Amino acid sequence: MSPQTVIVTGASSGIGKEIARYFLEKGDNVVINSATAARLEEAFRELGAGPNLARVAGNVGDKKTGERLVQTALDTFGSADVLINNAGIYETRPFLEVDEAYLDRFLGTNLKGTFFTTQAVIPQMRKQRDGVVINIGTTLVDHALGGGPSTAPIASKGGIHALTLQLAAEFGKDNIRFNTIAAGQIRTPMHGGEADQGAGLHLLNRIGEAEEVAHMVYAIAKNKFVTGAIIPVDGGMGAGHHLN
Ligand SMILES: NC(=O)c1ccc[n+]([C@@H]2O[C@H](COP(=O)([O-])OP(=O)(O)OC[C@H]3O[C@@H](n4cnc5c(N)ncnc54)[C@H](OP(=O)(O)O)[C@@H]3O)[C@@H](O)[C@H]2O)c1
Repeated sequence: MSPQTVIVTGASSGIGKEIARYFLEKGDNVVINSATAARLEEAFRELGAGPNLARVAGNVGDKKTGERLVQTALDTFGSADVLINNAGIYETRPFLEVDEAYLDRFLGTNLKGTFFTTQAVIPQMRKQRDGVVINIGTTLVDHALGGGPSTAPIASKGGIHALTLQLAAEFGKDNIRFNTIAAGQIRTPMHGGEADQGAGLHLLNRIGEAEEVAHMVYAIAKNKFVTGAIIPVDGGMGAGHHLN
């Protein structure tokens, strides 16, 4: 398999960093992004700072960040084959306390970030008549939790799930694919040291590891007949519950 160029947003930490590592280890070229330049630089070094790795710091909610990511992919590696929209934020706040500024933070990073970065890459994928966009969504879109008041992030992630199907329909004839991973609770800095407390949400009675998401992202990137799919990597969280 010849090396592909893979753009990973939110790759200074957690799932994004493991996705970048996974593709690098398989021999692909990777462009990493995150909003905080110092954190991105640290990840760049941790991932080896080699000739098959480039970085672009910037907020994905700003359309120019996506354009810079695609330009860097083209200038450095000559193509833009895979986009992983992973950059994201999650917090809980009771619905009646959500004001416009708070809601805009989630819509801006999660939904608009995915929307605009995808807009930036499609013209190049169209030229190539080949490409795949993989978003990191959540099982919580279809499996709500009382006691976890998260309307703002879930509304933004629900938009991403819907966007996946519509884009798959609009660009299928251009051979551009769109898929979303519906992740269960995954061990990352997003959960601080308390991630394992969510084990019982999953039929497997444990939380997931970032590498398990990366493994599926890689499989979807390389399997050319998967599009318009919401693919759970959630330890059975979306499938059912334990009663004890
Ligand atoms: N962990 C889970 O249980 C879980 C479950 C379902 C879905 N997800 C989704 O998986 C994705 C990754 O989450 P994670 O758990 O790995 O979180 P994480 O460790 O907190 O990493 C989040 C990454 O997103 C970046 N980021 C945040 N806002 C950004 C922005 N505006 N522009 C560019 N980059 C930005 C952060 O970069 P800097 O801080 O360096 O700027 C960081 O690299 C998110 O979309 C999250 O919603 C996670």
